[in-house]
Amino acid sequence: MAELTVCSTTEEMTTLSRSWIAEGHTIAVVPTMGALHRGHVVLIREALRRANRVVVTVFVNPTQFDRATDLDAYPRDLAADLTTCEAEGVHAVFAPSVAEVYPQGATTSVDPGPIADRLEGEHRPGHFSGVATVVLRLFEIVSPHVAVFGEKDAQQLAIVRSVCEPREIDIVGVPTVRESDGLALSSRNVQLDPVARQAATALPRALESVNDAWIAGLAGIDELRARGIGIIEEAGGEVDYLDLVDPATFLPCSSPERGDLIVAAAWFGGVRIIDNLQLGS
Ligand code: PAF
Repeated sequence: MAELTVCSTTEEMTTLSRSWIAEGHTIAVVPTMGALHRGHVVLIREALRRANRVVVTVFVNPTQFDRATDLDAYPRDLAADLTTCEAEGVHAVFAPSVAEVYPQGATTSVDPGPIADRLEGEHRPGHFSGVATVVLRLFEIVSPHVAVFGEKDAQQLAIVRSVCEPREIDIVGVPTVRESDGLALSSRNVQLDPVARQAATALPRALESVNDAWIAGLAGIDELRARGIGIIEEAGGEVDYLDLVDPATFLPCSSPERGDLIVAAAWFGGVRIIDNLQLGS
């Protein structure tokens, strides 16, 4: 099994990745904000299949949080993350400080374009600019050939693909990993108290119900949306959005087609959960 190297400075990480490249290795990166769970492990395993050196970045990126309280409450457990990475055969963890990632302060930022203003972007202003900025910065430091992301954050994945288009980095999306009751794995799930955790299963149920109704012939957007929203509200959730969108643009569909995405975000007991499902799946 590979020995895990932990890099906390940009210099350590770039020196390591340059030496790997000089030796002819390929590098896959799994960008994370830590609090690693089984979903991350699936991303790591995909990265290990696609390259012979794997870097997991662990960085709670302040520029993608629109609320200071959310940033403060975000779960952090670097020691456990390192144990997970070591057990999985990860070659390096890059766990930098904010000053390492943003040495000049967070003064320049990437504008991902209009896709970043919809849905998640509308409810979390500046979020995707922060994501795009940090992802490009991490890529600059790690110099990966491949980067692996979860499809749970579908809009994030589309934005990363679009801002990385000029670079020769293979952006790989990995299907969402779910608990046995359907809840998508997320680092935020640990913040759900038992009542909210139970209620949050309404989110995947709502997506499934919209999908089933469409497969059964219900085609009206308003009816499909109302059906999903009703299920979440009945469980006590507060819906930010539930929409059917084009998977490339994230614009709302006027007449839904197989392959469109049902996307939703909702609050359960003060915790915001997002999820999506491909229509016709
Ligand atoms: O999905 C996440 O965990 C974060 O948004 C990412 C991609 C690591 C950027 O901070």
